[in-house]
Amino acid sequence: MGRTEHLQGDDSGIVRAAELLSEGRLIALPTETVYGLAGDARNDRAVARIFDAKGRPSFNPLIVHLADAGAARALVDWSDAAEMLATAFWPGPLTLVLPLKDGHGLSPLVTAGLDTVAIRVPAHPLAQVVLRAFGGPVAAPSANPSGRISPTTAAHVLAGLDGRIDAVLDGGPCTVGLESTIVGLAGTPTLLRPGGIPAEAIEAAFGAPLAQHDGTAITAPGQLGSHYAPGARVRLNATQADPGEVLIGFGPMECDLNLSRAGDLVEAAANLFHHLHDADRPGIAGIAVAPIPQHGLGVAINDRLRRAAAPRG
Ligand code: TXA
Ligand code: MG
Repeated sequence: MGRTEHLQGDDSGIVRAAELLSEGRLIALPTETVYGLAGDARNDRAVARIFDAKGRPSFNPLIVHLADAGAARALVDWSDAAEMLATAFWPGPLTLVLPLKDGHGLSPLVTAGLDTVAIRVPAHPLAQVVLRAFGGPVAAPSANPSGRISPTTAAHVLAGLDGRIDAVLDGGPCTVGLESTIVGLAGTPTLLRPGGIPAEAIEAAFGAPLAQHDGTAITAPGQLGSHYAPGARVRLNATQADPGEVLIGFGPMECDLNLSRAGDLVEAAANLFHHLHDADRPGIAGIAVAPIPQHGLGVAINDRLRRAAAPRG
């Protein structure tokens, strides 16, 4: 990628930021918590590029940012609990995990194939206007390379990601400086990640205590029991299909579905969950997957494939 544009938080910066999002490109977007590495959550390529830019070794599910609670209701099964917490804390540093509605239109890379999604309505005025100007859901993890500290200024973002993203929109220092609190509402209301809003404040608004999540599963969401795994057996490093298998290929080869005929790892990541779903037909002997190079996004693709192929309990 070329130069990273440094956009000011004025009208032209806002217009440019929304335009880049519409083109499937990546911008660092200021929020009140930390700067987010933002891309169109419906665009597989854009979401694959988020993981590529961060150098993430696995596909963790990402938070989807929306302009208001109305946009959330269109995406997820809304509930009384969601209504209560959204009324109390949105816009603001609270993320809710809720069941996805049919026809949600999000890239499966955003949710790592889960049937729930993490959503939040940020309070930062620039995040608000960009989300409204763009008019769609925006996936955004913190705008830092994987394993580094979350950025709370545009300078922090550039220190880690200059040349790896299309633009940074400068909104000055983040006021909260800590990621959002995540509450799971797909089952028993559960504190999934402590963050910008104290759990006590959420419990007070909710009128009941939140269940506590086992911390290990939060840092490794790929190990959650509900994580998507195909129904069919998955065989890795396959060079050809055994009888009855569906072969998912990579690079120029004969196969049923190809992650990227051109051998492009960003394209392969964008196609990964779609192809696993498409291959997972009833009655097949299994899904065979060609070897994927272990560099760049290939590391995350292989991590995901190993989980899909792991013996089930
Ligand atoms: O403050 C924030 O939340 C920042 C700013 C940019 O908004 N964003 C952020 O996003 O921290 P991210 O993608 O780094 O956080 C994702 C967290 C992970 O811990 C992930 O496990 C959890 O959200 N998560 C996402 N989807 C989930 C789901 N469906 N179920 C459970 N946890 C989920
Ligand atoms: Mg982060």
